[in-house]
Amino acid sequence: MDNIRVLELYSGIGGMHYALKESGVAAEVVAAVDVNTTANEIYKHNFPSTPLRSKTIEGMTLDDFDKFAFDMILMSPPCQPFTRIGLQGDISDPRTKSFLYILDLLPRLSKLPRFILLENVKGFETSSARDSLVSTLKDCGYTYQELMVSPTSLGIPNSRLRYFLIAKAPPGSFSFHTSSEILEGFPSPAVQVVPEPSLVKSASCRTACQEEDKEKQEEGDGQILYKLETAKQADRKSSQNNDTSVRQIQDFLELGAEEGMEDEEEGDKYLLPAKTLLRYALLMDIVRPTCRRSVCFTKGYGHYVEGTGSVLQSCLETEVEEAFRGLEQLSDEEKLNQLSRLRLRYFTPREIANLMGFPKTFTFPENITTKQQYRVLGNSLNVHVVSRLIQLMVS
Ligand SMILES: C[S@@+](CC[C@H](N)C(=O)[O-])C[C@H]1O[C@@H](n2cnc3c(N)ncnc32)[C@H](O)[C@@H]1O
Ligand SMILES: *[C@@H]1O[C@H](CO)[C@@H](O)[C@H](O)[C@H]1NC(C)=O
Ligand SMILES: *[C@@H]1O[C@H](CO)[C@@H](O)[C@H](O)[C@H]1NC(C)=O
Ligand SMILES: *[C@@H]1O[C@H](CO)[C@@H](O)[C@H](O)[C@H]1NC(C)=O
Repeated sequence: MDNIRVLELYSGIGGMHYALKESGVAAEVVAAVDVNTTANEIYKHNFPSTPLRSKTIEGMTLDDFDKFAFDMILMSPPCQPFTRIGLQGDISDPRTKSFLYILDLLPRLSKLPRFILLENVKGFETSSARDSLVSTLKDCGYTYQELMVSPTSLGIPNSRLRYFLIAKAPPGSFSFHTSSEILEGFPSPAVQVVPEPSLVKSASCRTACQEEDKEKQEEGDGQILYKLETAKQADRKSSQNNDTSVRQIQDFLELGAEEGMEDEEEGDKYLLPAKTLLRYALLMDIVRPTCRRSVCFTKGYGHYVEGTGSVLQSCLETEVEEAFRGLEQLSDEEKLNQLSRLRLRYFTPREIANLMGFPKTFTFPENITTKQQYRVLGNSLNVHVVSRLIQLMVS
């Protein structure tokens, strides 16, 4: 059988391409498209033989698309218009233009692609861009399923709850029972055997229950413990850390965490600066190597602190509680003294890549700065999650 011909749109650093490889599906990327020159350098460095178009999607014609004769689209459109912290400009945002252009082209292609997979942030599901996508797919006769999945459901200690849509062209159908509701987690085998609608939503909702987003709303009140954390938040974190179906952070580290680490100098490079410690200590999400959780890494990681990803406690002789005790009463110098006993450091880009499922063969060209590395990784996706979804879509 011929390879499935894949078009990778908004290809970034190639997260979709790695997922496709990992899925084991006989396929090849016949074209990748992205406008960002930094991302494209990284993509080319890792996939030198994949044809990469460094241009805008809306700058390509129907004919250009038809020439690729593709069977599958893998895409993660830019998410800023849909995130809740953004302005929610949605379809009026110019960054949505290319996506609407794709929807406009789809019915006019000389051959409908058999498979479509889209990834986006939480929040996309309530956007009008999502409504346009779904109505275009329905008009073209596609069978589709929407899902919300986080890597924690695959035992990876990192939250990254994302919206996914997988679609199959007529007369295709999925191996699981589809639902018009958004599945929370992967469809479980039970759902395949017993297609009762009532089972669908609960499929594997453990993941959803662990997500920061939801819980922030529920934890609006409650007594603040040390750090700016409520008892409820602290409990949730400790129950996540007790869940042995999820791996430990230490399996994903490159720089050892204990004192006497092999590459101490390299580790120092990632230590949080004094200014950051003093300013943000109470807001940081701190994890130890033995933890089974971390929060989503976003593109501001390593630069902004609040809400951009967890930091690692690399000296374990002091308990976090201890280092934070009585902090309010101390001078800045004493505060720093106390906090620096934890040796808090950022995860390195390689460690984030590990948590996001990028294989060891993935590397950055030498002249890509650490800050740029964090940025492109923050824009990318969890490779293992997408790999499973590709398998699910094709099987
Ligand atoms: C969310 S990121 C995708 C990340 C990608 N899946 C990865 O693994 O790195 C969105 C990408 O879309 C690209 N992009 C945004 N608007 C575009 C357009 N109009 N045409 C082509 N690429 C665009 C950005 O440069 C960015 O790399
Ligand atoms: C986690 O496990 C420890 C030790 O087994 C136990 O003492 C603690 O109560 C557990 N915490 C939660 C929240 O399950
Ligand atoms: C990295 O080096 C390449 C090749 O020398 C050059 O084309 C590119 O502009 C550089 N990229 C960055 C981000 O500096
Ligand atoms: C490309 O992406 C990088 C990393 O996300 C960002 O810093 C840079 O500003 C982008 N460049 C362009 C030309 O959009």
